[in-house]
Amino acid sequence: MEVARTIKSVREFVKAARSKGKKIGLAPTMGALHIGHISLIEAAVKECDFVVVSIFVNPAQFGPGEDFQEYPRPFEADLEICRKAGVDVVFAPGPEQMYRTENLTWVSVEKLTEGLCGRSRPTHFRGVTTVCTKLFNIVAPDTAFFGQKDAQQAIVIKRMAADLNMPLEIVICPTVREPGGLAVSSRNQYLNEKEKKDATFIYKSLQQCQQLIRDGVTQSDAIISEMRKILRQASSIEEIEYISVVDAETLQDVEKVEGAVLVAVAVKIGPSRLIDNILLDTSKE
Ligand code: PAF
Repeated sequence: MEVARTIKSVREFVKAARSKGKKIGLAPTMGALHIGHISLIEAAVKECDFVVVSIFVNPAQFGPGEDFQEYPRPFEADLEICRKAGVDVVFAPGPEQMYRTENLTWVSVEKLTEGLCGRSRPTHFRGVTTVCTKLFNIVAPDTAFFGQKDAQQAIVIKRMAADLNMPLEIVICPTVREPGGLAVSSRNQYLNEKEKKDATFIYKSLQQCQQLIRDGVTQSDAIISEMRKILRQASSIEEIEYISVVDAETLQDVEKVEGAVLVAVAVKIGPSRLIDNILLDTSKE
């Protein structure tokens, strides 16, 4: 496995692989790799012949007061995980490679970024779409892999790639959960034991939602209020930032569950802000 620290070197590795006719896969990450990332890397290794994992804690997607400084950076452990998973190149640029000068050019996706996490993190998605555009331009992958856990991010990136005719396929991999149902996230490591236990109520609330819909409840308000009751049972959940039932494509709130919907939750628990979601297609249930 190679480690590329510069744009020039990663491009050389990819160019050599492409000249041998290899299909290039990219798993963009901010490091602190866990089993969720490993599932993306495994999907990339299965579908592609040459896999690049990028590790870059992107300052542009953190707002003021967010955890950019504290974000875990266990680089050697990350390299070991990549090596074991069969990655060909880890691209780990410094900030001077990704943001050479004051950045004046941004990629923003409208509408889809206004609700859900966009409400409390108004510059977050602009940071994500800009860095992903840079990574796609640098690595030029045939396929890029993202996780369903960050559902809004996945939908926004898919839309960006389609709207800007980016020549790559975006693959969304299922959410990986711990045995109690908690969605795996780098930010789970900020939690103490009690907070971790309480965090399992997030998935419990989503399961309850799924059950209510199976039982024929269709009013979003009724579903949200039942989910809220479940989250309130967890004393470490300090704030329910949102529980939303939205159209899975437009991300607009829906009054009634019909067709494909995304049910998404964000809560503040101890030092972490955690998100989770389920995608439901009532036309197929
Ligand atoms: O999902 C993440 O870890 C980040 O948002 C991403 C896609 C690597 C962009 O920095």
